[in-house]
Amino acid sequence: MFNLERNEPCWCGSGKKYKSCHIRQDEEKLMPYQKQGYPVPNKNLILNQKQIEGIEKSAKLTKSILDEVGKYIKEGISTLEINDLVHKLTIDAGAIPAPLNYRGFPKSCCTSINNVICHGIPSKKDILKDGDIINVDITSILDGYYADMSRMYMIGNVSDNAKKLIEVTKECLMAGIEAVKPYEPVSKIGDVINDIADKNGYGVVRALTGHGVGLKFHEEPNINHFRTNTKSMIMVPNMVFTIEPMINEGTYDCYVGDDNWTVYTKDGKLSAQWEHTILVTETGYKILTE
Ligand code: MF3
Ligand code: CO
Ligand code: CO
Repeated sequence: MFNLERNEPCWCGSGKKYKSCHIRQDEEKLMPYQKQGYPVPNKNLILNQKQIEGIEKSAKLTKSILDEVGKYIKEGISTLEINDLVHKLTIDAGAIPAPLNYRGFPKSCCTSINNVICHGIPSKKDILKDGDIINVDITSILDGYYADMSRMYMIGNVSDNAKKLIEVTKECLMAGIEAVKPYEPVSKIGDVINDIADKNGYGVVRALTGHGVGLKFHEEPNINHFRTNTKSMIMVPNMVFTIEPMINEGTYDCYVGDDNWTVYTKDGKLSAQWEHTILVTETGYKILTE
């Protein structure tokens, strides 16, 4: 299981040998899934106590930065000002903003307004105006550990449609989180999110997903936010990943703009997103960015 030898230290960090620690539990719970062809996580996705503590610390910092930045998000400020504040708060805390120079991304956070689904690039030309909705997505690296989160903000008087989209998207995130349970496939997360979106006539973005996070910015498993009906990876205690549903007022279709980053809704309608970094525990989950 997890490609772990019986005599190697157990993945849980107990210091005991695998054969005298979690091997029985893993075999009993995971073997049936493996036999049916479900992927199980490789051991590098099962984090030890020290790594989890590091990610938790990074997550607390990330949350505190977004809390602070949130106070400044209002009509008349530019997304570049948001970026510069995120950058300064991150550096002042001894951390690194993960987006900066990530695969060529030019700024320290993502700012996605109205019909932008995600990966909007902060710019001094983008000034927030009355009625806008915006997602601010930040990822910090503290002592080498990554934590990733995003929230929506409403500028001034926002339409009832936009308010509802933001609320339902948050409901999707929280329902997805509640579906996190060890020894269940990650596809459960997308199932519950898709149900809520369907009920409201919304589209669930398919081209972008949640992801393993912590030691790297993006890694396995892929967390689809839509119903897949495929055999997806089994959740195991001590895995860390994001859930970050992107929910569209209209269809789920999207396209990438000329800057090769900004993702737009194809129909020009609104999109919302909320993101948390989640730890799988022995009994369920823990939201680290809260
Ligand atoms: N924070 C985004 C996520 O949730 C990733 C942004 S990649 C960047 O996965 F390069 F655009 F920053
Ligand atoms: Co993410
Ligand atoms: Co993010």
